[in-house]
Amino acid sequence: TASLTLLGIESSCDDTGAAVVTGTPGEARVLSSVVQGQGQLHAAFGGVVPEIAARAHAERLDHCVAEALETAGIALRDVDAIAVTAGPGLIGGVLSGVMCAKGLAAATGKPLIGVNHLAGHALTPRLTDAVAFPYLMLLVSGGHCQFLLVRGPDDFTRLGGTIDDAPGEAFDKAARLLALSQPGGPSVEAEARAGDPARLRFPRPLLDRPGCDLSFSGLKTALLRARDEMMTDNALHRQDRADLCAGFQAAIVETLREKTRRALEIYLQDAPAVPVLAVAGGVAANGAIRVALQELCDQNGTRFTAPPLALCTDNAAMIAYAGMERHAVGESDGMDLSARPRWPL
Ligand code: KG4
Ligand code: ZN
Repeated sequence: TASLTLLGIESSCDDTGAAVVTGTPGEARVLSSVVQGQGQLHAAFGGVVPEIAARAHAERLDHCVAEALETAGIALRDVDAIAVTAGPGLIGGVLSGVMCAKGLAAATGKPLIGVNHLAGHALTPRLTDAVAFPYLMLLVSGGHCQFLLVRGPDDFTRLGGTIDDAPGEAFDKAARLLALSQPGGPSVEAEARAGDPARLRFPRPLLDRPGCDLSFSGLKTALLRARDEMMTDNALHRQDRADLCAGFQAAIVETLREKTRRALEIYLQDAPAVPVLAVAGGVAANGAIRVALQELCDQNGTRFTAPPLALCTDNAAMIAYAGMERHAVGESDGMDLSARPRWPL
């Protein structure tokens, strides 16, 4: 098949992204990937403010696109198609991206390709590691937590997922409860290194129930209670805080490990010669989680792969790549492409 070059646009949460990817499905490379985070804009509010996010995306997208093209060393007329996240996500941000992509498509006559943000994450191992279908994907981020059986560019089976919070959200809330900096994942992980994971036993929700569903919202309540019992004069000793982090992280690691074991069991019933477990999402940066998943894969004759962090977290290269997979099989959208706040795979 002929080589394709796609421009990708991402604006579904709090990262504005534009990227250029070239090649063929399973053999593509990233020519540029520009990501502008909005952490500072939302920091004072303790979470992403949709209105502020949408405005920032609208203001920054043009510049990100120009920079992505320049870094890739190509002009807009050289791209074969324009891919954009059409959902799921914060609707104002998604709309900003879709309108930007429609403008570029209308001005150039290039095909417009709407991409599901989750499909972008789920197909990333094919961009970074040439992984063949079918593979098992664990998507763990601040907003998502699910197991996907990926059989083709548009063939995903959800084996299970969180019934409440995502693990990244749990880490972020834990950090808030313990007065640690945001994002919470890296700071809780750093504290946990100095802590004793066995001192406090946090709940392992849903482990007693069959299936691959997960739950993390009860953990923060348990953390709050344990913290309050340890506090004296409204202060928390350093070691106590480290132990809380270690126990909290251990509960998340063990829950993810056991549910991943069950998802692997389902996948391995009908797996290819070289079975693969891939992770994506910001939480995949967690060292303890990676070690647990690597061990699990070693025990099950499965290859473990994780994209480099910049392509694990929200970015537009994964959107350009997912667009390439769609474009390669002749799919595209019209100017009636709509932005979808909810869009299950
Ligand atoms: O994929 P991502 O960048 O975007 C969102 O889904 O928003 O993931 C961000 C999430 C945050 O909740 C952050 O706390 C978490 O990933 N995270 C981590 C680590 N690094 C980032 N969680 C656990 N351990 C880490 N080292
Ligand atoms: Zn994402």
